[in-house]
Amino acid sequence: MSADARKTAEGLSYLSGFGNEHSSEAVPGALPEGRNSPQRAPLGLYAEQLSGSAFTEPRAHNRRSWLYRIRPSAQHPAFTRTGNGAIRTAPFTETVPDPNRLRWNPLPDPAPGTDFLAGLWTLGGNGDATQRAGMAVHLYHANASMERVFSDADGELLIVPERGGLLLRTEFGLLHVEPGHIALIPRGVRFRVELLDDSARGYVCENYGAPFQLPDLGPIGANGLANARDFKAPVAAYEETEGPVEVVNKFCGNLWTATYDHSPLDVVAWHGNHVPYIYDLRRFNVIGTISYDHPDPSIFTVLTSPTDTPGLAGVDFVVFAPRWLVGEDTFRPPYFHRNVMSEYMGLVEGAYDAKAEGFVPGGGSLHNMMSAHGPDRETFDRASAAELKPQKIDDGLAFMFETRWPVTLTPQAAGAEHLQRRYDDVWDGLERHFRPLR
Ligand SMILES: [Fe+2]
Repeated sequence: MSADARKTAEGLSYLSGFGNEHSSEAVPGALPEGRNSPQRAPLGLYAEQLSGSAFTEPRAHNRRSWLYRIRPSAQHPAFTRTGNGAIRTAPFTETVPDPNRLRWNPLPDPAPGTDFLAGLWTLGGNGDATQRAGMAVHLYHANASMERVFSDADGELLIVPERGGLLLRTEFGLLHVEPGHIALIPRGVRFRVELLDDSARGYVCENYGAPFQLPDLGPIGANGLANARDFKAPVAAYEETEGPVEVVNKFCGNLWTATYDHSPLDVVAWHGNHVPYIYDLRRFNVIGTISYDHPDPSIFTVLTSPTDTPGLAGVDFVVFAPRWLVGEDTFRPPYFHRNVMSEYMGLVEGAYDAKAEGFVPGGGSLHNMMSAHGPDRETFDRASAAELKPQKIDDGLAFMFETRWPVTLTPQAAGAEHLQRRYDDVWDGLERHFRPLR
């Protein structure tokens, strides 16, 4: 681990109220008191607002931060188009939506010198980035640290590392994220990804819609699921690089590049609530049955991106964390089902309790709207015959991006070498057991 990563891990501040106001300053006195934009900002800094919501959205949904920086973001040359690599953006129209159950092995090894941005590979998605609705599923496989800086105007990026630690150098400071943690980079926030290991692999949900927030808890009460205090924002840290820095901007599906004469990661102090953060998925307070039946997996929601329809998420991020199963007279693994929502599942480590094999860390499965899925035969047979003693599920960490719209694949995902051709076979051999009483 680099010295910077150690410093960051120890220095994180708490997001004590999710979405509430936070502040940090790398130099004492850099944060103005009592006003956002004084006539002269402290220490010769420039004051700048970064708005993640419309100015007039209700207070509960309003997102913005004030940045106090060495140079204003406005000071940059023109952006020009650059190649999009393997990144694709909604609307996804190059293939027809596929009702089949689909599953992929991990991405192949990247070419030497592949950084996080070059290693991003889009599986598919839905909605329309220009309408700020929908989401994309990306995977990444990188073996080099970024030297360039990236920002995504199309949406926020929920990063789910599966292999290799990452140091995220953001405008707001440094975040250290390891497999088992997630990181969120808000829309438009500039950052660079440095690898803490030889290579890094994982998943990214690009959310074009409303920012992720904690789900309401209803009768669960004031505590439970992901607790707000466990979401950690960075401590302010800035770069004083003078010299050429490539800055890549994703805008309405295309990558644009400009060479700045300084680093845009030059924020000395900030306050606000449009802020990157990390969260340790093992802090998730798992709630489940203590009587019978498998609850719907919405009980495992970490973050949700709401839409205008109450309870109907553009995308939910759901985690299947270590937990006890104690349900009596219950088929304990996830049940057979068909769902109006579409489910992309990934695996950070270990195994998932509804699949005997074939669903591996770094791989993923897609069960689109109304596609029938559930335990494979081996799991069904085992769980149907199991003696129902209390059982700890602690050998895996799976997650789901669950979205209200079907996921349409990119051609590279539909034709990938690592697409499993015989996924349907896992449900072969589920025998007829029906014996009507005579
Ligand atoms: Fe499902």
